[in-house]
This record gives sequence, structure tokens and C-alpha cells, in this order.
Amino acid sequence: MKVLILGGTTEASALARALAEREIPALFSYAGRVASPKPQPLPTRVGGFGGADGLADFLATQRITHLVDATHPFAEQMSRHAVAAAERKGTALIALTRPPWEPQESDRWQRVASIEAAVAALAGPPERVLLAIGRLHLAAFAARPEHHYVLRLVDLPEEAPPLPRHTLTVDRGPFTREGDLALMREHGIERLVCKNAGGAGAAAKLEAARALQLPVIMIDRPALPPRREAHGPDAVLDWLVHRSTSDDGTDRGV
Ligand SMILES: NC(=O)c1ccc[n+]([C@@H]2O[C@H](COP(=O)([O-])OP(=O)(O)OC[C@H]3O[C@@H](n4cnc5c(N)ncnc54)[C@H](OP(=O)(O)O)[C@@H]3O)[C@@H](O)[C@H]2O)c1
Repeated sequence: MKVLILGGTTEASALARALAEREIPALFSYAGRVASPKPQPLPTRVGGFGGADGLADFLATQRITHLVDATHPFAEQMSRHAVAAAERKGTALIALTRPPWEPQESDRWQRVASIEAAVAALAGPPERVLLAIGRLHLAAFAARPEHHYVLRLVDLPEEAPPLPRHTLTVDRGPFTREGDLALMREHGIERLVCKNAGGAGAAAKLEAARALQLPVIMIDRPALPPRREAHGPDAVLDWLVHRSTSDDGTDRGV
């Protein structure tokens, strides 16, 4: 058995620890988006594979038997490539995912299907907006330059975000309800825009928004091709053990 973990999430790091503790042969892969990624207890490679073809080649040359897609729910391209490459090479694939957040009774969510729809939903008078979507899609919000955006990013960006009114905070978490309440109060936040990432680590901003009764624009997850999913490292370990000893007929052999 040889496992490849596509990482970049808390859950991927937890799985890496579990495999290392059990001495299960495995590699860890980062996209290379963050300046100083968290060190992993597994041999680690950094950077894209070169599309689905490049990943398929990597699976073959590294003799990967089990591919675990533990990327963020919004890493759509990587997840699509994982499905395509695993199918092409007959590599067993599982996605380590977390259930999406659901609104609670007092929440003021507006659900939208995409970044573009979130931008459209910001039509209206100028507001102070906490834009917690990472750095990749900030430029889309330049179409609504009337708002003041508070941006929380993992690293200081090399170039200033193309938003005429913004404030940058650099923090990679873990975040707390109290910390996010303080951030929202300090910056006079009137609305939160975020992605439905799910999980505990990033939920603090929702708890803070709930406490302040702030409206939230919640960007729904991209739709992905059907694939086997597990919701925790233990479930992935069960699958690895099961898949190395039997085949239930729904996956290709390893
Ligand atoms: N999107 C988010 O909101 C978000 C939030 C937190 C963390 N992350 C993490 O940040 C990374 C990049 O996310 P993204 O949204 O930019 O992904 P993406 O749009 O789905 O992927 C773009 C390209 O980046 C490369 N890539 C992505 N993840 C990789 C990995 N784990 N190992 C090697 N190459 C990878 C692949 O390049 P090639 O085509 O060349 O192989 C992929 O085609 C992922 O590890 C993800 O888990 C993303």
C-alpha cells in the first residue's frame, strides 16, 4: 500500500499524523499557496502536478495505491483532477470532507451559488464587509468598490488587493468566537461574506455573526463528480484497511 494525501486542510494534517503513527507508507502533497506550510510527519511534495494527466503520471510513477483527496471543499479543480486521474489509473480514491454548515434559527444567511453571485448580492448602500474568502477571488469584489472590505488572509499578499477601500489582517487561525467578535466590533463590520467550508476551525466567524445578528452571504460549495467520501481520519483509516484486503466491487482494484 502507498497513500497520497492531497492536503491543505486541518483534516489532511490529522490524517497525515494518523498514517505516520501507524507507519503506513504515504506521501503528502501541498499546492504551494502558503509561504510557510505546516510541516508534515510524512514525505512532502509541493506544487501542482500539471493537470489530471500530470497527477495520473505521478500516481503511476510513485506506485500510489490509495489517493485521499483531503483538499478544501472549494478546491474544485484539484478534486476534479483527482477523480479523473484515479479513474484513469485504477487507483482507489476517497475524499476526506466535512459536512457543510447549516444555518441556525436566528441566523440571517443569504445563500449564493458562486463568488460572482456573492458580488451581485452586495448591491446596495456602502457597508463595512468582512470578506473571509481567501485571497484568490478578491478581484471579483472590485466590481463593488463602494464597500469597505476587511480581509483576513494567511499571508500578506505580494500585491495590494485591487479593492479601493480595504483593511488587511493576517492570521491563519485557529479562530475563536471571542476573537472574531472582537475583530467584527473593532472594524464595525455590518456584513460577512464567506464560503461554506464546514468544520469547526472556521466556524467562529459564524458564531460571532450570530451573536451580533449580522447578515451573512454564504457561498455554497461547487458541485463535484460523484466519489466516495469520508468525514474523518478514522473513516479513511477504516477504508484503507478494508480496501487493502478486499474489494466491494464499487471501486477498481488496487
Ligand atoms: N479554495 C479554498 O477556499 C481553500 C481554502 C483553504 C485551503 N485551500 C487549500 O489550498 C490549496 C489550493 O486550493 P485551490 O482552491 O487553489 O485549488 P484548485 O483551484 O482546486 O487547484 C488549482 C491547482 O492547484 C494545484 N493543487 C491544488 N491543490 C493541490 C495539492 N494539494 N497538491 C498539489 N497541487 C495542488 C493543482 O495544480 P495542477 O493542475 O498543476 O496539478 C490544481 O489544478 C489546496 O491544497 C486546498 O486544500 C483552499
